[in-house]
Amino acid sequence: MGSMAPSATLAIDSKAKAMKAAGEDVCTMSAGEPDCPTFAPIIQAAIEALQKGKTGYTPASGIPDLKKACAEKLQRENGIETKMEQIIVSPGAKYSCFATIAALCGPGDEVIIPAPYWLSYPEMVRGVGAKPVFIPARAENNYEIDPAEFEAAITAKTRLLVLNSPSNPTGAVYRRQTLEKIAEIVIRKDIMVLSDEIYEKLTYDDALPHVSIGSFSKAINDRTITVNGFSKTYAMTGWRLGYLSAPQWLTKKIAALQSHTTSNPTTFAQYGALKAFACTAEVAEMKQEFQRRRDLIHSLVSDIPGVKCSRPAGAFYLFCDISSFGLTPFKFCERLLDEQKVAGVPGEPFGSDRCIRFSYACSQETIRKAAERLKAFSATLR
Ligand SMILES: Cc1ncc(COP(=O)(O)O)c(C=O)c1O
Repeated sequence: MGSMAPSATLAIDSKAKAMKAAGEDVCTMSAGEPDCPTFAPIIQAAIEALQKGKTGYTPASGIPDLKKACAEKLQRENGIETKMEQIIVSPGAKYSCFATIAALCGPGDEVIIPAPYWLSYPEMVRGVGAKPVFIPARAENNYEIDPAEFEAAITAKTRLLVLNSPSNPTGAVYRRQTLEKIAEIVIRKDIMVLSDEIYEKLTYDDALPHVSIGSFSKAINDRTITVNGFSKTYAMTGWRLGYLSAPQWLTKKIAALQSHTTSNPTTFAQYGALKAFACTAEVAEMKQEFQRRRDLIHSLVSDIPGVKCSRPAGAFYLFCDISSFGLTPFKFCERLLDEQKVAGVPGEPFGSDRCIRFSYACSQETIRKAAERLKAFSATLR
């Protein structure tokens, strides 16, 4: 655990917050959460649960009704064969990822992580004494891993592959044919997959729909832990509620770990979440707005000389290659904040020494202003 590094993005983030608190006009493009409140029916259900006295412990892996709803959702929408006994509701998808890694991996094990990656995966792997092994997911290849490179990275010590589609930080969505090739290798090499699908509902291109690797066959589903949650889809980041579906032998181990570490996720939050899967109109509206912002930020930023960015098909991040300016991402972000008051997130903690991440979970006005300022800043560097 001593090898876990604290988040390197925190310094810029706290500086941006301090500037904002001091009344400065900062464009905050660093948020990892939707900029709207939780949808009303969910809030109402949680209030009612509190009023009805739902304030005690629940079973550690979640209330049966919510586990059943999660299993039905995964069956219906993702084509994943599962049942409520395979579901664990957790205090956030982040904890579901950690509990999976902790239950499966330890010293001597290797975990393959495509880079760029969500910055918590390598720290979780190191935290349990296992070794992260990075393979590149290149911009020119839709930020997907190359199946041949993946296979070459597998050793006798490999326990797990971590997949995240749609991706934080790249916004990339894996194509079905790539996932099928990966699944074939996973089965043949007899390793496991952690598929983090937390941004599944935020995809914007018909040609690139979200696909769950666990849906392909029994053989791959038996090796897949599908993680999802309520934070991004239902604007519930502060509720701390996620869930996973795993093969039953593993569900038992993860459930035991959760029961001894966090116990149940917050009781009234679970009752609120029971209403989440019915909020399809609210999700569709939020997604449409994100799509407009995606189109806007991508067109404005792609026009800036020296900045390269692929069009993200999902999530709410734009990952921009700023390597042409000769500054490290960290230095670029620091100066962009100091000189133009735009807060982005440097790529280094995501495993990229070329890119910075802008979140477009903010108003179109902020996006326009930030793009203008980025253009002005870039011009000073050329
Ligand atoms: C890829 C990815 N997985 C998981 C999470 C964590 O979600 P939760 O709020 O449910 O813990 C995040 C949040 O930023 C994320 O980006």
